[in-house]
Amino acid sequence: MKLISVTSGKGGVGKTTVTCNLAMSLAAAGHRVLIFDGDIGMANVDIFFGVRAERNIKNLLDGESIHNCITKLVKNIDLLAGGSGLQELMTISAFERREVVQQIQSIHLNYDFVIIDTAPGLHDYVLHLNAVADQCVLLITQDPSSFADAYALIKTLNAKYKMKDFQVVCNLVTEENGGALFIRFAEVVEKFLTLRLSYLGTISEDIVLRKAQQMQRLVMRQGVHSEAQKQIQQISVKLIDSFIVQSPARQTIGTTAFGSEEKLGLGGIFFPASGHA
Ligand SMILES: Nc1ncnc2c1ncn2[C@@H]1O[C@H](COP(=O)(O)OP(=O)(O)O)[C@@H](O)[C@H]1O
Ligand SMILES: [Mg+2]
Repeated sequence: MKLISVTSGKGGVGKTTVTCNLAMSLAAAGHRVLIFDGDIGMANVDIFFGVRAERNIKNLLDGESIHNCITKLVKNIDLLAGGSGLQELMTISAFERREVVQQIQSIHLNYDFVIIDTAPGLHDYVLHLNAVADQCVLLITQDPSSFADAYALIKTLNAKYKMKDFQVVCNLVTEENGGALFIRFAEVVEKFLTLRLSYLGTISEDIVLRKAQQMQRLVMRQGVHSEAQKQIQQISVKLIDSFIVQSPARQTIGTTAFGSEEKLGLGGIFFPASGHA
């Protein structure tokens, strides 16, 4: 099971869009995916799929079985909604944590990928959800504030968690401008920070995708073919490849911060933000 976080410095840049459509793309290729909705302020993954999650992580913390807390979205995609339970995650006792981690471990074999949709900003739980992931997908747009906020986010993740690898997706730009945007961003980042950015791809501004979402339908479910759909599919293939070439440095960091990452996996989200359980 691999953990992927989808993040950005700023809201409204397409995190949930990418999370859901990436999940659809992986699911279509036969992978079993769990989406973890880690956005407290705007937990809306269920809405993108046109369903309503009755349960969330709060119910898990209250002692319900993990199987009750998961919402089935479509074939091969389940959802663990975060909601208000996320705030409590950081303050639960070691005993409660152990119980919850055990529950989470019982579903490890059920999924190939967990995609974490994060909130924007630099809150501890946002940083933490990124730090437990095996790969961090960072979204940027041409908006100057998205650029600056993304820089601030990776700078913080690098300083606090020694994260060094980021998979960048440029959203809401043409293919050509996306490539140039990535180069500009990478130049600035690599000038001031010692870390590595990989270019995962660009998603164009796509009216079909936007319309589909307004009707609570995902573009990947539409049956129509759109530019964005093709691009997201390519991004999902590259993302899978990135696990094969993942640098040993990142894996070591995960292990240092959270004990054995292999053993914890998704359970890592239940460890305090400092990483010292
Ligand atoms: N590539 C795209 N083309 C067209 N609309 C997009 C694209 N990416 C995101 N959007 C639209 O932008 C809005 C914000 O996207 P969302 O995924 O909710 O952002 P976030 O989760 O980062 O806040 C939504 O209305 C969504 O439909
Ligand atoms: Mg969102």
